[in-house]
Amino acid sequence: MAEQGREATADRAARDTACAYMTGFGNEFATEALPGALPVGRNSPQRCAYGLYAEQISGTAFTAPRGANRRSWFYRIRPGAMHAPFRRLDNGGLVGDFAGLESPPDQLRWGPLPLPAAPTDFVAGLVTMAGNGDPAAMSGCAIHVYAANRSMTDRFFYDADGELLIVPQQGRLRIVTECGVLAVEPQEIAVIPRGIRFRVELPDGAARGYVCENYGAPLRLPDLGPIGSNGLANPRDFEYPVAAYEDREGAFELVGKFLGRLWSAAIGHSPLDVVAWHGNHAPYRYDLRRFNTIGSISYDHPDPSIFLVLQSQSDTPGVDAIDFVIFPPRWLAAEDTFRPPWFHRNVASEFMGLVHGAYDAKAEGFVPGGASLHNCMTGHGPDAGTFLKASAADTSRPHRVSDTMAFMFETRLPIRPTRFALEDATRQRDYWRCWQDLPKNFDPTRP
Ligand SMILES: [Fe+2]
Repeated sequence: MAEQGREATADRAARDTACAYMTGFGNEFATEALPGALPVGRNSPQRCAYGLYAEQISGTAFTAPRGANRRSWFYRIRPGAMHAPFRRLDNGGLVGDFAGLESPPDQLRWGPLPLPAAPTDFVAGLVTMAGNGDPAAMSGCAIHVYAANRSMTDRFFYDADGELLIVPQQGRLRIVTECGVLAVEPQEIAVIPRGIRFRVELPDGAARGYVCENYGAPLRLPDLGPIGSNGLANPRDFEYPVAAYEDREGAFELVGKFLGRLWSAAIGHSPLDVVAWHGNHAPYRYDLRRFNTIGSISYDHPDPSIFLVLQSQSDTPGVDAIDFVIFPPRWLAAEDTFRPPWFHRNVASEFMGLVHGAYDAKAEGFVPGGASLHNCMTGHGPDAGTFLKASAADTSRPHRVSDTMAFMFETRLPIRPTRFALEDATRQRDYWRCWQDLPKNFDPTRP
């Protein structure tokens, strides 16, 4: 037994260095960085092993139905309450109040946010592009982009306002959290639940990407209906970190986001000091390239909901507060049909980004790191060039859409762009022109 114990400890140490993961969306995980750190058969013993403190973090109401309930137990060096009082910190580019922002119903598009010249970490590099709802009502979301060039070492962050869905576009992120370490690269995503403390290291130096800050119900996998028991994002491809802790002391800073504003507290130790944890309120990563894309093999492009990865449900059945949708490489096999996404107007609002390659409905202008916003009932669809090409395409053979990874944060509420988004030089003020060259083809004498 002793021999096995030593092996297990060595294995754990090796796995921790290499960022080891446990798999399965929303599972009840149990993980310890030191043998015996996790209590067996109970959550709150009178005295925890190794002199650790027991602490519960709840991401849903205590009484939420079992299938929706999210909570974890942490066994940590010091409790989360140990830090100095918070003081207001300048919000930088972050906006947390969207009520009253004047929002034109135009189609909007932006080029990529430039990488910073001055030293900027992940939190300082966040800029809010748009949002809706209200963190105080725990409803809606904020949509940010980030551009950063410096790792966080002695600065830690948590978000009481919402869960963070991070979509890297350039540069890898090493996200060191209370639950362990997540390594993500472009075409992967990370989700940090509400309240979880973390810091972000940038192994490649510069990094850029997108963040959806979800004020509402935690993201979950959608039901599959007639698709069956497999497909879209498969549960076992979601990866959660094994326990790994920092035992560090120093003059550190804990930054909290609460009710739309940033707050800073001095803290004398790393809050990433959880030696063991169990539960399902934990950060995870997912490789978008593992998405099982399902589409039409007869005619007509289906509604984009067929590309749904994760959803935040609202109180109305079937109406999501947020849908995270991707447009990955795939075969187009529908015959005698217009293959790209069709022209449409929609009660939902759509913020899109491009991680990699090109998007099949926009031949030009929508570039990696850029973004677009098509709000409630704003007409949009393929640009003129794409329409003309797709209308004349040979549909008797399948066509491979390759070298692409676009995504959409689609929300129930209209999305209000921030003043920064409307006024920044990255806004493409001529975006509307991409539809103006669509010819009038109508001829009443030619059925
Ligand atoms: Fe759309």
